[in-house]
Amino acid sequence: MINYPVMTAEEAARLIKNDYVLGIGGFSSVGVPKAVPAALAKYAIEEHEAGRPFQVGLITGGATGPAVDTDLPLAKAVKFRTPFQSNPNMRKAINAGEVEYFDCHLSMIGQDVYYGFLGKMDVAIIEASEITPEGHLILTTSVGIAPSIAAHAEHIIVELNEVHAGKLTGMHDIYLPEMPPYRKPFEIMKVNDRIGTIDLKIDPKKVIAVVHTNAYDNQPGFKPLDKDTEAIGAHISNFLVNELKNGGIPKEFLPLQSGVGNVANAVLGALGDNPEVPPFTMFTEVIQNSAIDLIMKGRCLGATGSSLSLTDDYVDKMYANMDIFGKRIILRPQEITNHPECIRRLGVIALNTALEADIFGNINSTHVLGTKMMNGIGGSGDFTRNAFLSIFSTQSLAKGGAISSIVPMVTHVDSNEHSVRVLVTEQGVADLRGKSPSQRARLIIENCVHPDYKQLLWDYLKLSEGKSVHTPHSLRHAFAMHIAYEETGDMRNAKF
Ligand code: COA
Repeated sequence: MINYPVMTAEEAARLIKNDYVLGIGGFSSVGVPKAVPAALAKYAIEEHEAGRPFQVGLITGGATGPAVDTDLPLAKAVKFRTPFQSNPNMRKAINAGEVEYFDCHLSMIGQDVYYGFLGKMDVAIIEASEITPEGHLILTTSVGIAPSIAAHAEHIIVELNEVHAGKLTGMHDIYLPEMPPYRKPFEIMKVNDRIGTIDLKIDPKKVIAVVHTNAYDNQPGFKPLDKDTEAIGAHISNFLVNELKNGGIPKEFLPLQSGVGNVANAVLGALGDNPEVPPFTMFTEVIQNSAIDLIMKGRCLGATGSSLSLTDDYVDKMYANMDIFGKRIILRPQEITNHPECIRRLGVIALNTALEADIFGNINSTHVLGTKMMNGIGGSGDFTRNAFLSIFSTQSLAKGGAISSIVPMVTHVDSNEHSVRVLVTEQGVADLRGKSPSQRARLIIENCVHPDYKQLLWDYLKLSEGKSVHTPHSLRHAFAMHIAYEETGDMRNAKF
């Protein structure tokens, strides 16, 4: 039995110095350290009041909780932040230029840390549910980049969260790839293949503090289904059923990846409710509430992801039924869940959400009007580029109809026309496979654009008709709809 130094969150926070780079465990807002970051924010305020500088760099797996992404930016204690975040306070600090933020594919961040591309990491703060007699960690509801930061950071602070004590043992599969040229194939041939250990092996000499906590992650709930999200879900499930009938998807079906947010949660629910979609598995990044319901109903036979991004009532629901969930869920590092090799080999069907799409199938998932960061690319790029079938969905309108989510040219590209195979809105489906840019544009305008914007987009397309171009854009007018929104508050005021 190893005796690590046990202390309060306030004492542990004082081990962190100005300018430190911190690795934060957890993923998609769950399994995230809570007490030490909250105490660190208070400590930063004290330091600022005493006239001393205090800021840290934050490298996370993805979205974190309010202690990291609310308390620290409000305390003006964040120098830089990477990668995905989804918190209004952190978003505000990033867009105000108070926090240097760089976005990154989530499959890459652990490797970047491991190779030292992001510099020296001083302290990793990791939430665990148990410490083994050898001093290793059983993680909680996520894995994220915990293995990479534990391996790379000089010191480790552990938050030992009693809420999950003894509940999750056996659910994790921790594996860190070797360095090239010694990297081996990941032998995941089926969604539920295991390749690693159930505990996260750490160097006990690195542990400078263990802080006891007892707190849920308090994940916010999802918006209730509305007619648009229901329609998107129905379009996607009908499309997949047709593919199944036509032999476009093998009769065994293929593992699903489902993105983050309200639309993604609703789409997965709709797939589960469609009796013509056979029971499926999930090879995904984030396991949301809808997946838990589907496992309970026997519609989802097994899921592997990097986090159980569940509301607290769903965490309890899962714990009350561990005879079912213990066998059906595996939590892995994001380097594995999002790895191109696994996604391509398993033939994943990727379902992600766009902020805006253009009439050629390019996708903007991150930048509102090309300039303001929303959340980050997350794993959508990892999955979209490598999936067997990459589907993006979005509601055709935003902001009460003042914005069309389908535009002539996206203001920022996260996933491009070469990877995006199908686009879906509540209006319908555009199957872009095997179509030229001009054919794609016609299909998207006809099937996906809201009636309020159809004529406007036909008018845009007409601008370059008859000209010798492959992709019918007009550089002069490509952002006219965005400019009309900025100047008049409504894209419908654009003129072509
Ligand atoms: N222009 C401006 N704002 C827009 C917009 C557009 N074209 N489309 C949507 N919005 C706004 C909405 O009005 C809403 O604003 P609000 O928060 O003020 O109400 C907000 O964006 C979110 O829209 P919503 O429709 O509720 O989206 P969502 O919860 O389904 O999330 C993404 C959509 C794209 C933000 C989210 O999926 C994301 O961050 N994706 C990138 C990462 C990713 O895909 N990860 C999964 C990989 S596994």
